[in-house]
Amino acid sequence: MHSTITKSQRSAGVIESYREFLPVSPETPIISLGEGNTPLTYSPRLSERIGRGCEIFIKNEGANPTGSFKDRGMTVAVSRAMERGTKAVICASTGNTSASAAAYAARAGILCVVILPAGKIATGKLLQAFVCGAKIVAINGNFDAALGIVRELGESGDFTIVNSVNPDRISGQKTAAFEIIDELGDAPDFHLLPVGNAGNITAYWAGYCEYRAHGKSTKSTAMIGFQADGAAPIFHDRRIDKPETIASAIRIGNPASWKQARVAIAESRGAFDVVSDEEILAAQNWLAQREGIFVEPASAAPIAGLFKCCDSSGAAYSFREIPEASRIVCTVTGHGLKDPDVIIRRMKELKPVAATIMDVRRAIEL
Ligand code: F0G
Repeated sequence: MHSTITKSQRSAGVIESYREFLPVSPETPIISLGEGNTPLTYSPRLSERIGRGCEIFIKNEGANPTGSFKDRGMTVAVSRAMERGTKAVICASTGNTSASAAAYAARAGILCVVILPAGKIATGKLLQAFVCGAKIVAINGNFDAALGIVRELGESGDFTIVNSVNPDRISGQKTAAFEIIDELGDAPDFHLLPVGNAGNITAYWAGYCEYRAHGKSTKSTAMIGFQADGAAPIFHDRRIDKPETIASAIRIGNPASWKQARVAIAESRGAFDVVSDEEILAAQNWLAQREGIFVEPASAAPIAGLFKCCDSSGAAYSFREIPEASRIVCTVTGHGLKDPDVIIRRMKELKPVAATIMDVRRAIEL
């Protein structure tokens, strides 16, 4: 039975919204969960922190259907895979790609295989892949090893790879830059985001360049990518064999889009920088407590990075002398509920009190 709700009443998804910029044709079957069109929230407190009339916006990608930005690329990758008659998709993942791939494959009615580093995937993300019926294989190795295996299996022709080495993923993810320009009326001056496998920074830069070439924006945006300091191969310019960070989503030592990320930074006159796990967790709390936005640790990296750009003399990019009224966008890439473990450890046990107004008042400590 067809729904009586008209298309305009639902979120159309990124393919319907940006069809002319995407590698689809009228024949492409569209596999969508209504991704994209995520909030771009003005942050008065972060803006205040920088001062000088600068405006900070948070692009909240946790609001996508599976709770991360991966859905933008996955709708394009899975739709194109269906067009080619694929029976199965495969990916390596630190969690979010697998959650997204599993959901879009379920929607398409095809098999999804995910290869994961054993014991390293946040609970919420693993649950998502499981409940959507993905075939999950945990390996005794890290993400980089998992991606190596996936690349080899992809060559066998049995699977379509839906990691960001698939250019359809990058195409879909660039729509986030389109949305930002459509909403702000021009490109921002700076864009801060976390970097893991480096697909997303590549995609944003492609999106900003493409929209500018179409006359939809006038400014160039300086891209500033943040890695966790125990997993910062691009920053240090060397492969990290044993990457370590609390931000499991970006625990990657040999990013697939390393070169493209370097090009994005060079062309945009941006920078790479690192933030510590402590800074990441402090920024995660700050954002939840001051702005009501709960993000996973990896997503807090650009917020920690913003603080570093404002406060630290050691920052790769200092915001102390940026032009007045600059516009800065920080992408927070995934929802906090996906990776609750660190927060749960910090929560105190709740001791019940008697069900009386007096006892409850006392417990509130007013
Ligand atoms: N933030 C989150 C929440 C992520 O899940 C990822 C990557 C990134 C940032 C980094 O993006 O890889 O394009 O530079 N997660 C991948 C995954 C690796 O398997 O889910 P990137």
